[in-house]
Amino acid sequence: MERLKGLILSGGEGTRLRPITHTSAKQLVPVANKPVLFYGIEALVEAGVTEIGIIIAPVTGGEIREAVGDGSQFGAEVTFIEQAEPKGLAHAVLTAEEFLDGSPFAMYLGDNLLRNGLSRLVETFKRESPDALILLTPVDDPSSYGVAELDDDRVVRLVEKPKDPPSDLALVGVYLFSPAILEAARGLEPSWRGELEITEAIQDLIDQGLQVRSEVVEGWWKDTGQLADMLEANRLVLEEIRSSVEGDIQDTRIEGRVIVEPGAVLRGSVVRGPAVIGRGAVIEDSYLGPYTSVGADVEIRRSEVEHSIILAGAKVEDLGTRMEASLLGRGVKVTRTEGLPRTLKLLVGDRSEIEIV
Ligand code: G1P
Repeated sequence: MERLKGLILSGGEGTRLRPITHTSAKQLVPVANKPVLFYGIEALVEAGVTEIGIIIAPVTGGEIREAVGDGSQFGAEVTFIEQAEPKGLAHAVLTAEEFLDGSPFAMYLGDNLLRNGLSRLVETFKRESPDALILLTPVDDPSSYGVAELDDDRVVRLVEKPKDPPSDLALVGVYLFSPAILEAARGLEPSWRGELEITEAIQDLIDQGLQVRSEVVEGWWKDTGQLADMLEANRLVLEEIRSSVEGDIQDTRIEGRVIVEPGAVLRGSVVRGPAVIGRGAVIEDSYLGPYTSVGADVEIRRSEVEHSIILAGAKVEDLGTRMEASLLGRGVKVTRTEGLPRTLKLLVGDRSEIEIV
């Protein structure tokens, strides 16, 4: 089989992660201090797929270009492809037609994380050269996904976001395709949500009698499109880190596996891993609990934080109560002031969510 190309979809509006996605691409939200998108690029490169096209949206595309560069930091050669409107995954494939240039390819949704990567899947695809190889995983809420109906291990039907799911096997956002998928995508009509659905294009391959194979994911998979999933992905990735403590540690107890990046300062604090603390962060008189990712230049003082993701430059001071299951955007400030009246003072962006106790 000729070389596989890679296609990462990194457009989309990220509506379920607002307000973070008002100002930033959801694929750049960091999990354990690394943008979600980077895990996908690394997984492709590890599977030997180095010629990668990244689909970007007009608004967030610039930021993604800047973060990824030409791909050489990953050992990849990256081409950016702009999709003018988010008209669906199959539409994205059609937009990439010139880049794909008749090659078979691995398609990867840029907000997905796959514990065990793609190497085995790519090997199976090369060995058996079906027209599509899809990945499935059992989920609790199949109605939120594309769902497969199997007869033994043969895929007989695929439905996108079914009200009445034929099984609990969801389509994971990683697919391997022969060029036959382009023809199938060209024949699609927009679905009820106004998108050209890749799920329907694969169904078309089945209807044509072409070979569609499936595998069930080994290890975990996460679609990080919503806050709870993002935090869960952060937990799962941190679960596997190895300790590496640099930075300036003063009068601080570090328990469990913790990464402290160079230039971070920890003073009079307790850090209980797994956790990661970014470059230039300052943690003072505070408790940082498990499953916390603290971005570069974050400042946390006299506060307790756990199971959270704090983006670069945010500041948390004198909280007075423990913060958990939270995602703070870049440069967010959560502080306490003295004096009267004792009120809440908020300057909060559109669609932010605040729960107070
Ligand atoms: C998309 C696909 C769906 C798949 C899911 C995986 O859904 O349409 O079939 O199960 O990705 O993340 P969307 O994120 O567009 O709702």
